[in-house]
Amino acid sequence: MFSLLAATGQDQKLDPAAWGSDHVGKPVPEYLTGDECLFCHRVNLGTGWGSNHHNMTMHALEPDASIMAELKRQLGDKVASEIKVELGGRLLSRFLKPDQAYGKMDLLSVARKSGSAGKPAELLHKDQPHWDTAQFAESCAGCHATGIEPSTKAFSSPSLDCYTCHGLVDPKHSKDTSLVFLSRKHKETAREVISICAQCHARGGRSRASGLPYANNFVAGDNLFRDFQVDLSPEALSKLDPGNRHILENIRDVVVGGKEDLTCLTCHQIHKQSTLPHRRLVKSDICLDCHNATGSMKVRKTLRGPQQNVWVLTMNAEQQRALEQLPGDGPPDETDIGLRAYLTRLSDEHLAKYDPNWTDEQVMEWDGQFREDGNLMLVCCERDIDVEEFRRVLAIHLAERRKLAAH
Ligand code: HEC
Ligand code: HEC
Ligand code: HEC
Ligand code: HEC
Ligand code: HEC
Ligand code: HEC
Repeated sequence: MFSLLAATGQDQKLDPAAWGSDHVGKPVPEYLTGDECLFCHRVNLGTGWGSNHHNMTMHALEPDASIMAELKRQLGDKVASEIKVELGGRLLSRFLKPDQAYGKMDLLSVARKSGSAGKPAELLHKDQPHWDTAQFAESCAGCHATGIEPSTKAFSSPSLDCYTCHGLVDPKHSKDTSLVFLSRKHKETAREVISICAQCHARGGRSRASGLPYANNFVAGDNLFRDFQVDLSPEALSKLDPGNRHILENIRDVVVGGKEDLTCLTCHQIHKQSTLPHRRLVKSDICLDCHNATGSMKVRKTLRGPQQNVWVLTMNAEQQRALEQLPGDGPPDETDIGLRAYLTRLSDEHLAKYDPNWTDEQVMEWDGQFREDGNLMLVCCERDIDVEEFRRVLAIHLAERRKLAAH
C-alpha cells in the first residue's frame, strides 16, 4: 500500500546552510507585540489565542488556582507561595518565579506530571525543592519565551508571541497581506516554514554561536541552519519516539532532501490547533511513524507522556500490538490481552522506577491500580489478576520493551 519514497530524500543531498541570511549575535529587532496585533485582530483571532498552547506555554498561576493547593500541601507554603508562573501544563509542568534581572526567571527543580487514564497527577523531584537562577535562560528561554537577547539571554516578552512565527510585520500588510509571513497570500518556501518551526521543534539541536540548545536570535525568513545544528542522520532519527521522529524526518526531507511538497503546515493548523488536514494526504513514509504500514489507518492508541520534557509517543501502533500479543502460557483470553495492553500504556519514566526486588506491597503501591482485594483494576476483565501474575507478565513485558527500545 505504501510506496517507498525515501529515495527522493536520499538522491539529493543539499547543504542546509547554503541559502539565505540570519541575525545571529545581533540585538533583537524591535517588533510589534501580541497586544498590538490583537488590537486589530481580536475578532478573527483573539478568542482562540487565549487558549493556544503556544501563547499559554508560560502563564500566571493565581494563588487560588487548584493546583496551588496541591503544591502547598506537598512542597510547603514557603516554596509554593513563591511560584508565580506555570510552564507547560498539558503533560508536564515546570514552575517559575521572576528573577531580579529583567527578562529572567528562576526555575524550580520540581516537575508535575499531569494525571491520565485514571492516574493522579504526580510531583517529581519534590524532595529538596530549590530555585535555579541560570537554567531557564541557559536552557529553556529560546523556545518558551520571545526575543532572547543574545548578549544577556534575557527575554523580551514572556511566552510565545506572534513575532516568533510571523517575524517583523510591516504595518502596510493591512493593505497588502502578501507582506506578512504565513499569511494566505505570502508564498514562503518550504525551507522558510521549516526554519520557523524548527527553531523550537528541532529538539536536541544546538546553536554554533552560543552553544545553547536553542536558536540564536532567529527572525522569520532567516535560514535557521546557518547557525543551528541538529543531527538528522538515519541513526539519530531511528532512536526517536514517533512523535519526535516525524518532526525531524520532515525537517530532513526539506532541508537535506530538497522536497517541497510537505511541511509542518501541510498537516498542522496552528491557530485552530488541529491536524485534520493531514488525513486527506497521500500516504508516504512519514505516515509510518504513527500508522501501521498495512490495514486500517486507525491509530490504535496514541501514547504520549513527558519524558525529559519531550513529547513522546512511546511506541508506534505496530510495536504496541506486538507487545499486546505476547504469548502467555496458553491461548490468550481477553484478560491476558487486557493486561498486556495495560502495560503498553505505562510510560517509560514510570517503568524506570520499578524494582523487581520489591515486595508485593511495594509493587502494588507503585502501580496504584490494585483494589483493596489485591487484584488489579482493569476494564473488560473476565477473571482477576493478582500481583503474582502481574509481576510475571510485567517481567516479560519489560524484557521485550527493552528490545524494542534498542532498535
Ligand atoms: C518559539 C518557539 C516555537 C515556535 C517558533 C513554534 N513552536 Fe510549536 N510549540 C512550542 C512549544 C514550547 C510548545 C509547547 C507548548 C506547551 O504546551 O506548553 C509547542 C507546541 C506545539 C504543538 C502542540 C500543541 C498544539 O497546538 O497542538 C504543535 C503541533 C506545534 N507546536 C507545531 C508548531 C509548528 C507547525 C510551528 C511552525 C509554524 C511551531 N510549532 C512553531 C514552541 C514553538
Ligand atoms: C507558533 C507560530 C505562530 C504564532 C506564535 C502565531 N501565529 Fe499566526 N499563523 C501561524 C500560521 C502557521 C498561520 C497559517 C494558518 C494556521 O496554521 O493557522 C497563521 C495565520 C495567521 C493569520 C491568518 C489567519 C487566517 O485566517 O489564515 C493571522 C491574522 C495571524 N496568524 C495572526 C497572528 C497573531 C496576531 C498572533 C499573535 C497574537 C499570531 N498569529 C501568532 C503561526 C503562528
Ligand atoms: C492596524 C491594524 C493591524 C495591526 C496592528 C496588525 N494587523 Fe495584521 N492585518 C490587518 C488587516 C486590516 C489585515 C487584512 C484583513 C485581514 O485579513 O484581517 C491584516 C492581515 C494580517 C494577516 C494575513 C491574514 C490573511 O488573510 O492571510 C496576518 C498573518 C496578520 N495580519 C498578522 C499580524 C500580526 C502578526 C500583527 C502584529 C505583529 C498584525 N497583523 C498587526 C490589520 C492589522
Ligand atoms: C504528515 C503530516 C505531518 C507533518 C508533515 C508534521 N506533523 Fe506534527 N503531527 C502530525 C499528527 C497527525 C500529529 C498527532 C496529533 C495528535 O496526536 O492529535 C502530530 C503531532 C505533532 C506534535 C505533538 C502535538 C501534541 O499534541 O503534543 C508536534 C509538536 C508536532 N507534530 C510538530 C510538528 C512540526 C514542527 C512539524 C514540521 C517540522 C510537523 N509536526 C510535521 C502530523 C504531521
Ligand atoms: C505524528 C503522528 C502521525 C503522523 C506522522 C501521521 N498521522 Fe495520521 N493520525 C495520527 C493521529 C494521532 C490520528 C488520530 C487523530 C487525528 O486525526 O489527528 C490520525 C488519524 C489519521 C486518519 C484518520 C483515521 C481514522 O480512522 O479516523 C487518517 C486517514 C490518517 N491519519 C492518515 C495519515 C496519513 C496519510 C499520514 C501521512 C501523510 C499520516 N496520517 C501521518 C497520527 C499521525
Ligand atoms: C529547542 C527548544 C526547547 C528547549 C530548549 C526547551 N523546550 Fe520545553 N518544549 C519545547 C517544545 C517544542 C515542547 C512541546 C512539544 C514537545 O514536547 O516536543 C516543549 C514542552 C515542554 C513542556 C511540556 C509542556 C506540556 O504542556 O506538557 C515543559 C514543561 C517544558 N517544555 C519545559 C522546558 C524546560 C524547563 C526547559 C529548559 C530546561 C525546556 N523546556 C527547554 C521546546 C523546548
